[in-house]
Amino acid sequence: MRVLVVGSGGREHALCWALSASPLCDALFCAPGNAGIADVATCLPVSSDDISGLVTVARAQNIDFVVVGPEAPLVAGLVDQMTAAGIKAFGPSAQAARLEGSKAFMKDFFARHNVPTAAYGRFTDAAKAKAFITAKGAPVVVKADGLAAGKGVILCQSVAEGHAAIDTIMTDKAFGAAGNEVVVEEFLHGEEASFFAIVDGETALPLVAAQDHKAVGDGDTGPNTGGMGAYSPAPIVDAAMQDRIMAEVIMPTVRGMAAEGCPFKGVLFAGLMISKDGPKTLEFNVRFGDPECEVLMMRLKSDLLPALIAAVDGQLKNFDLRWYDEAAVTVIMAANGYPGTPQKGTIIEGLDAAAKIEGVSVFHAGTKSEVRDGKTVVVANGGRVLAVTATGKTVSEAQALAYKGVDAIKWPGGFCRRDIGWRAIAREKQS
Ligand code: AMP
Ligand code: GLY
Repeated sequence: MRVLVVGSGGREHALCWALSASPLCDALFCAPGNAGIADVATCLPVSSDDISGLVTVARAQNIDFVVVGPEAPLVAGLVDQMTAAGIKAFGPSAQAARLEGSKAFMKDFFARHNVPTAAYGRFTDAAKAKAFITAKGAPVVVKADGLAAGKGVILCQSVAEGHAAIDTIMTDKAFGAAGNEVVVEEFLHGEEASFFAIVDGETALPLVAAQDHKAVGDGDTGPNTGGMGAYSPAPIVDAAMQDRIMAEVIMPTVRGMAAEGCPFKGVLFAGLMISKDGPKTLEFNVRFGDPECEVLMMRLKSDLLPALIAAVDGQLKNFDLRWYDEAAVTVIMAANGYPGTPQKGTIIEGLDAAAKIEGVSVFHAGTKSEVRDGKTVVVANGGRVLAVTATGKTVSEAQALAYKGVDAIKWPGGFCRRDIGWRAIAREKQS
């Protein structure tokens, strides 16, 4: 089978790494890929946003199966276009991808199908949004409606901060058209977890849970990013909590989407707050998380490809996935400046030394190869640049090994957090 992965991040490197090991995969391509992905797949120079370009290249390369990594092409209808061209593609249709593409759609869907979530109001008028915040009081959360690369959410500790957030999103258009509408939400307390299920329209197969560190700084401080590191398992999601999440969040969503005429196929990723009243859904994503995917792929024992094909074919009912018991930790190395404007083009050395450490995989998230002074080098080409990933018997062991990998990498142009996995490690120390 000839397989095409769409995307260029650490998630797509991890997916390519897993898919390349499948006996069903005869040839693996990635569009556009990156310097690390080029080691396991043939990179095709087509952007992940170029829907017609991707269909053309898939046809030209006789692709049998497409796996879409990021949300933007899903929301733009890539799976619909591939399907219309007679090519099987894993991921939701544009209609189903609205679960991530529009927070307003998502929140109204939750209300229609009794999916537990924070109380909210939605507004296209800044004055009305501000009046709602004044009436409800702080703390409060203000979110741009559309896609904003994980950055369109502002946590406000006071009413004045809430009003300023409305100005930032609706008046200053800090996130562009994504801020034409805002959702204002009740502030939830608890511990966050990322929960994933592969869905075939009807049946949902839970994956292992993970936890992500969204804030840029140690101790979960500073502005939010796309994710600075992740680990799995997530101790807060034990077997009983997984059952509750499947019963209260995932299955009502799968049934609701089918009932509304847009059955969901692909990865349903619930960002959850595990509160004292149980799981509350912060958001849905319609794809694997990044960097959660990196730790999931390290823990997956089964062949990924047949599971993705079964999801597209509506055949997940009798499917099972097996996982290693070991923990996995991934540490994101980001370019200086991130999550603001990252510095591009700085040279990264020591990648081979890091990858040689047993139990360490270095997934590339934003890199490219360049020739400098007659030598091919790997340079930074994005905000999040590397996902240094390791496994171990415990989260503590996996973390220590991941940082051993980080320390083997010589890259003055980048930085990372030093405390990925701290919650789980604190728990391990207690027990
Ligand atoms: P989202 O993109 O909606 O997942 O929001 C990004 C981050 O903001 C989440 O991972 C949470 O840390 C935080 N957040 C979002 N909504 C809420 C809420 N209602 N209460 C508290 N924190 C929230
Ligand atoms: N790590 C969170 C996300 O992929 O949205």
